[in-house]
Amino acid sequence: MRLRPVVVSVFVAAAVAYFVYIPLPENVQEPWKLMLLDAAFRATVRIAMIKDWLGFDHFIRNIRWSTESLEGMMKTMSGSRSDGGVMPGVKVSDITFAGVPVRVYEPPAGGEGHLRRGLMFLHGGGWALGSGKKGSYDAINRRLSDELNTVVVSVEYRLYPEVHFPEPYIDCLSAAKHFLSQEVLAKYAIDPERVGVSGDSAGGNLAAAVTQEISTDTSMSVKFSVQALIYPVLQTLDFNTPSFVQNQNMPILSRTLMIQFWLQYLKADFSLHPQLLVNNHSSLHQSVIPAELRARLDWTVLLPPKFKKDHKPLVVEKGSHGIVKQVPALLDVRAAPLLAGPEVLAKCPRAYILTCEHDVLRDDGLMYARRLQDAGVTVTSDHYEDGFHGCFSLSFWPFDFDVGRRAVRGYFNWLQTNL
Ligand SMILES: *[C@@H]1O[C@H](CO)[C@@H](O)[C@H](O)[C@H]1NC(C)=O
Repeated sequence: MRLRPVVVSVFVAAAVAYFVYIPLPENVQEPWKLMLLDAAFRATVRIAMIKDWLGFDHFIRNIRWSTESLEGMMKTMSGSRSDGGVMPGVKVSDITFAGVPVRVYEPPAGGEGHLRRGLMFLHGGGWALGSGKKGSYDAINRRLSDELNTVVVSVEYRLYPEVHFPEPYIDCLSAAKHFLSQEVLAKYAIDPERVGVSGDSAGGNLAAAVTQEISTDTSMSVKFSVQALIYPVLQTLDFNTPSFVQNQNMPILSRTLMIQFWLQYLKADFSLHPQLLVNNHSSLHQSVIPAELRARLDWTVLLPPKFKKDHKPLVVEKGSHGIVKQVPALLDVRAAPLLAGPEVLAKCPRAYILTCEHDVLRDDGLMYARRLQDAGVTVTSDHYEDGFHGCFSLSFWPFDFDVGRRAVRGYFNWLQTNL
């Protein structure tokens, strides 16, 4: 009777394969690795929700706990391999800037006589997850500090569910103002003409919003000289851009999850989810959204034909009234930097915008690149045809993807010549 274990094994394998397998676009490399990562993430989210339901803490904190345990396990298993980012010469200090926790990386060279570059980094994670001190972010910033002789300041802004918009934005803005003060720049021997800001995903959102505020603040003498945005989140009014439709089920950020992150961040009722999904919140009947504002994210005008393909805009006539009045942050430029006017964009510094083909946020980034360019800003638009959301921070073992390594390299190269 050796058949039973075989049958059981086949059944279990089929069940696992069913849970893990998802159809992916053809040009995505290492598809099985991405499927496994996505399955692990989905399983984590489900377990976190069950634990929440059973009364074990908030589901976001459960997810944080699981990912941290997993990371710890991977570190132990891999030994020195995951320490690929340890740069013995880089001095790391965990301190506060204007009361906001930050991690500062100081390169070995410099100080005496010659000034260094400065870069503020804001990590991603949907304004709810992630930390600059963990995983790939820490490794990337150590390497950046060392290779580019740059003082990197990674900001541990507060997250959902502990806080909502605008707290994370205000944390980043306060830390940025402190960083750009004469005393701090002098203390770290940083050239005031060479201080940049960057961030990925939700961190790219915060970086773009903080850049707009600082660029238009006449009371500040030192401003950021460049901004580098890695697949940033930039707008709340259209969840049916070609990239939102095309990539709605792509790991690791589905359209549903992105909308959920927005509702959490803006402290909106989760019951609004189905309405946002079909653009009911930004219907033409909403008189609080003037045509001028809509034009700022009109992808039919702002995207090149290559990305529009045969997609049709989803413009709802009537929709559901009152959502924007109920959640005014949907129209707040500090939450949705793509809504800023051309006069604000014109004051922004030179920009690097990285976008990925297989990412719901692709068009947010592409539209921002185009609008900054239209406002007279020099923009480098770096598009990865085989990229997916999250690949930038998936550039280190065991979740390392070749496209992630290329994305990090491209970002380093741009900063090397532009910061
Ligand atoms: C969107 O608004 C329309 C009215 O224009 C309504 O019929 C529909 O039920 C709404 N959809 C959702 C998901 O609420």
